[in-house]
Amino acid sequence: MIKYLGSKKKMTPFILNTIADFFPNATSVMDLFSGSSCVGYALKKKGYQVFSNDHNFFAYMLAKCYVETDFSYELIKDTSLWIAYLNTLHGSSGYFTSTFCVKSNFFHKSNGEKIDSIREEILHHSLPPALTAILLVSLIEAADKVDSTCGMQMAYLKKFPPRAYKPITLKVPTLLYQSTYGKSLALNLDVLSAAKKIIADVAYIDPPYNQHNYLANYHIWESLALWDKPAHYGIACKRIDCKVRKSIFNYKNLFLSNLSHLLNIIQSKNIILSFSDEGFINSNELKQFLSKHGKLISILSFKYKRYIGSKIGIHNKFGIPVGHSSHSYNKEFLYILEK
Ligand SMILES: C[S@@+](CC[C@H](N)C(=O)[O-])C[C@H]1O[C@@H](n2cnc3c(N)ncnc32)[C@H](O)[C@@H]1O
Repeated sequence: MIKYLGSKKKMTPFILNTIADFFPNATSVMDLFSGSSCVGYALKKKGYQVFSNDHNFFAYMLAKCYVETDFSYELIKDTSLWIAYLNTLHGSSGYFTSTFCVKSNFFHKSNGEKIDSIREEILHHSLPPALTAILLVSLIEAADKVDSTCGMQMAYLKKFPPRAYKPITLKVPTLLYQSTYGKSLALNLDVLSAAKKIIADVAYIDPPYNQHNYLANYHIWESLALWDKPAHYGIACKRIDCKVRKSIFNYKNLFLSNLSHLLNIIQSKNIILSFSDEGFINSNELKQFLSKHGKLISILSFKYKRYIGSKIGIHNKFGIPVGHSSHSYNKEFLYILEK
């Protein structure tokens, strides 16, 4: 799985236990802001039927691979052959190299050239959608292992870390068997549209909790997945559409009204909302707000180490340290709500 801001990877056992404890009869869960797909993957592994949604295309590819696509021997055989072949390709400079290795410094040029060759090859073979998603995820994960960032693509490191010099190598993603409760599904919609379409026993909601836009944080994965070679801007060569593709959940003044709208639309009685103590709404405010939308059954908290960037400190655009972050742990709350 890729490095992802706000990923609940460390918390997945806690989330799974919470669902099992509070909703023991549940067989299906919707993950409406699926991001890295680590929650959907853990849920599917546990046997739930999962409905994942994210409005970014690369996140949809992750969910299509890890949540929607089921393990089969034929598929894994095909995938292994493709990945072995893609790993033999020679690098050839194209959009990726010029944008992310020459105009910016996110990857070593030799890896950028291989990424260009592999992505073009995937495009030219017009493969079935599930296989395409698996190969794109394999490419994104391999690229994530040799990048030169501290986990977000708003900036690159001043000097390549040792991993950036390693040759990129694709691996076969580990797929899961279909849940006995039915086929899981990945969607690529705005959350308000997705919530109208899906019905599940439990809705897990993990919205952005501050102004930072995930598309801008992970613009390279979006461009690699879409392969639309967009115009870009700034030192980080962000996709031009980062300026217009925004989330309605990234605005503090609109957050609660949008969350209210979402809670009204969701067709599940049982809701679990994840929210961080670093978010722009404090716990008391959220508690009062949620009480107006149903019965707030419980609030659970989980303490975990903050994102890697907080250990590195705060730097200006030239990579010069300009401050330290205030603390190295934060708390994530799970609000259990019955509508
Ligand atoms: C906090 S992250 C979710 C992290 C995820 N639970 C994980 O463990 O990786 C929030 C996600 O919501 C997505 N998102 C933001 N606004 C959205 C919207 N309006 N509709 C659908 N997805 C949205 C972002 O792309 C991001 O992946």
